[in-house]
Amino acid sequence: MTTAPIPPSRPDAEKPVEKPVEKPLNDRPVVLITGASSGVGHAAARRFAARGWRVFASMRRPERSEALRAEADERRWTLQTPQLDVTDDLSVTRAIGAMLQETRGRIDLLVNNAAYYAFGALEETTPDELRAQMETNLIGVHRVTRAVLPAMRERRAGRILVVGSVSGLVVLPAVGPYHTSKWAIEAWTETLRYEVSAWGIGVVLIEPGPFKTALHDNEVKARAAQAADSPYAGLLAAYERQAKSLRRAELPALINVIERAATARRPPLRWPVGPNAFSAAYLRRFVPDRLYELVVRFVFRSRSR
Ligand SMILES: NC(=O)c1ccc[n+]([C@@H]2O[C@H](COP(=O)([O-])OP(=O)(O)OC[C@H]3O[C@@H](n4cnc5c(N)ncnc54)[C@H](OP(=O)(O)O)[C@@H]3O)[C@@H](O)[C@H]2O)c1
Repeated sequence: MTTAPIPPSRPDAEKPVEKPVEKPLNDRPVVLITGASSGVGHAAARRFAARGWRVFASMRRPERSEALRAEADERRWTLQTPQLDVTDDLSVTRAIGAMLQETRGRIDLLVNNAAYYAFGALEETTPDELRAQMETNLIGVHRVTRAVLPAMRERRAGRILVVGSVSGLVVLPAVGPYHTSKWAIEAWTETLRYEVSAWGIGVVLIEPGPFKTALHDNEVKARAAQAADSPYAGLLAAYERQAKSLRRAELPALINVIERAATARRPPLRWPVGPNAFSAAYLRRFVPDRLYELVVRFVFRSRSR
């Protein structure tokens, strides 16, 4: 398993952004980001644009693009906000087809970022709720990546970043849907890395701990789990208390790592970053299952009383 070195403990400060050297449009590296309407995707779009990249900051709801477009105009960034819903074949092929036509087939970097957070005990999660989570967080990544790979193979160059999570390395009760999608993305990303390296295409996995974004404002709780008489109410309450107590880091630390993973000459596969990233990425590997289980049971039992 190749893993990036853990960044220093307080890398929250935004790296100074030098004024980009004005390059002719067709010489600029091209990046496509999914889910750029908020949080990580939005911040990554701003960072790459400020560095002089040609940015396609895609989002499923173009009406959320106004502020970013106004900023791009003001700062003279080369940034567009195509409509792209990762769950919709037509939307993906349309957006990526139009982008490749404009860039004459060039795409240097794909940042697979779009996702949402679904939770609830597994018994209370319907197959449709689980399917919807996988459709966005896993199949969406698959769909978008397949649409850009032919162009990357043609140029024998490109890099694919996948925003996974520490939730793909450890498990807590009541977060089965999200954990399942992020564990699956670990396997998916590592497989792809082996498959496309022959064309000089790099594939890397960012594994953030908790950061301050809208992820939890937009979280989706299984419908059955919302009932007051849910048999899992105690567990859910314990989970919610535990989630609220987490320290959430500022985004620049994560965006610095995304930028490094995008530009490093020989990037390792895994880039854990942020709170809990060290314990999830390293310690969990050496802690026997029985011991981990004891800790989880203790935390959830003691808090649910
Ligand atoms: N924040 C954290 O603590 C944390 C920790 C670990 C990993 N992550 C990962 O970081 C990534 C970004 O999340 P975030 O924290 O920045 O949360 P966020 O602010 O909620 O951003 C999620 C983005 O995904 C978009 N999205 C959701 N479904 C989509 C779809 N079907 N098609 C296209 N876009 C879609 C959302 O668009 P709308 O605006 O239209 O909803 C939004 O732009 C995710 O992969 C998440 O799992 C976050």
